[in-house]
Amino acid sequence: MAVLASALIAGLGGGWLAAQTRGNASELVVNPLPPDQRQQLVTGRCIICHSLETIAQQRQTREEWAVILDRMITYGMPMLPGDREIILEYLATRLGQ
Ligand code: HEC
Repeated sequence: MAVLASALIAGLGGGWLAAQTRGNASELVVNPLPPDQRQQLVTGRCIICHSLETIAQQRQTREEWAVILDRMITYGMPMLPGDREIILEYLATRLGQ
């Protein structure tokens, strides 16, 4: 999965159109998350376990996103120091209520 995630992160460099490989078939899909300088980080982390549509559909307050994010961390979401604030800021401003 780490290989897939880094391939995605590398693939996302060009913009908000993400070329994602699903199985053996390569297809171009539009990243449903709102474009932003933090989109790449959030995409790379969240797509490890589920589709981005799951996230893009949601509108939550900052507090609600914090609860969800902490639940994803307990599920085993990889986090580097400082990531939580950046991801939370993105979710709260781009997918906020
Ligand atoms: C380690 C695996 C994992 C990662 C990484 C992960 N999730 Fe999840 N996520 C889950 C699982 C499992 C569920 C379904 C169970 C649930 O709803 O708690 C879920 C469900 C969700 C839901 C729908 C349920 C709800 O409470 O509304 C949202 C929204 C969500 N994740 C957001 C995110 C975001 C945002 C990220 C990236 C910052 C992320 N997830 C990364 C495992 C993960």
